[in-house]
Amino acid sequence: MAVMETAFDPAYGEAWNRRQVADALSMPSTHALVVDADGAIIAGDGTTTRAPAGFVLSRHVLDEEELLLIAVVPGCRRRGVGETLINHLFDAARGRGITRIYLEMRRGNPALHLYRKLGFTPIGERPNYYRMANGERIDAITFGCSI
Ligand SMILES: CC(C)(COP(=O)(O)OP(=O)(O)OC[C@H]1O[C@@H](n2cnc3c(N)ncnc32)[C@H](O)[C@@H]1OP(=O)(O)O)[C@@H](O)C(=O)NCCC(=O)NCCS
Repeated sequence: MAVMETAFDPAYGEAWNRRQVADALSMPSTHALVVDADGAIIAGDGTTTRAPAGFVLSRHVLDEEELLLIAVVPGCRRRGVGETLINHLFDAARGRGITRIYLEMRRGNPALHLYRKLGFTPIGERPNYYRMANGERIDAITFGCSI
């Protein structure tokens, strides 16, 4: 939650609250990976003294997995932490027998560059799917990646 609270621009209303995260993680199909500033995986339950720098949340269904949220604290960006997080996710997902990862992104999010660099390609669009805090609508773009 410490990462969540600093990483997302409130204008887009993308951050989840503690309850939403807890509900998601209570399902065995939902997975969380938390890393420190070096990209090393740490426990996400507060039992480590290493400060969390980023996390990725995902959910699998059969042999497909959806990347639900990824975030890196502003002070640790553009140092490869996001890329490392997604590579950790790929490894963990392969271990679950996953062959394809999907995600959905609001149009204009610079995370696009990260996704494309790691092999995600656009496969669909949902016009006006997200609503910003000011009521404006933004398209969603869906990406897929075989792993
Ligand atoms: C998206 C996010 C997780 C990226 O984390 P990061 O640790 O900065 O990403 P990395 O340093 O691993 O970036 C790897 C590559 O992705 C691309 N990239 C990442 N952020 C970028 C940006 N803001 N603009 C352009 N390219 C970017 C670059 O190609 C980068 O490689 P380079 O730095 O060698 O050029 C981070 O910016 C973030 O937390 N954003 C807010 C939350 C969010 O919008 N999440 C996505 C929707 S859930």
